[in-house]
Amino acid sequence: MTIVIPYLHFLSIMVLMGGLIAEHLILKPKLTNQQVKTLATVDLIYGIAAVMVLVTGLLRWFVWGKGADYYLSNPFFHTKVTLFIIVGIISIWPTILFLKWRKSVKKGETPLIEEKKVKRTLMLIRIQLLLVALIPLLAVMVARGYGT
Ligand code: HEM
Repeated sequence: MTIVIPYLHFLSIMVLMGGLIAEHLILKPKLTNQQVKTLATVDLIYGIAAVMVLVTGLLRWFVWGKGADYYLSNPFFHTKVTLFIIVGIISIWPTILFLKWRKSVKKGETPLIEEKKVKRTLMLIRIQLLLVALIPLLAVMVARGYGT
């Protein structure tokens, strides 16, 4: 488990990052019905990866890490977890939008894809990518004993 959990932590982080990049590449002001479905699927995979990151992170924190107290008193760890929560909160907006579009497609309607909303969502995904890119830096600092 001391190997499996860190491995799964890394693997889910890779899938999470891949999901965000894929969403950014697919999302455009004009989307086919197939692309709308793909976006919703990619977002689901992203969501599952985020849950996996959280679960494996919690396991590293409380079970197979350096001891729960080591992390609790570390400001870099607090920053890391806070960034993760912010990323999670930001992702609510794209998820709601993608699900709304997919619902229309499923009903046989043409989803109303507004350029303004697409641009805003792309910006949110970019912010998420930036925040997720910062998290491993904090993680490595915590692991190397900075902030203790
Ligand atoms: C996108 C989100 C996350 C990323 C990119 C990330 C990244 C990483 C990386 C790269 C490491 C390995 C550090 C190293 O061994 O050098 C790590 C370790 C760890 N992560 Fe995460 N993590 C994320 C989310 C979380 C969350 C949400 C938690 C807790 C709830 C968490 C808890 C931990 C713990 C406890 C370790 C072990 C640190 C140590 O070796 O002492 N992570 N993380």
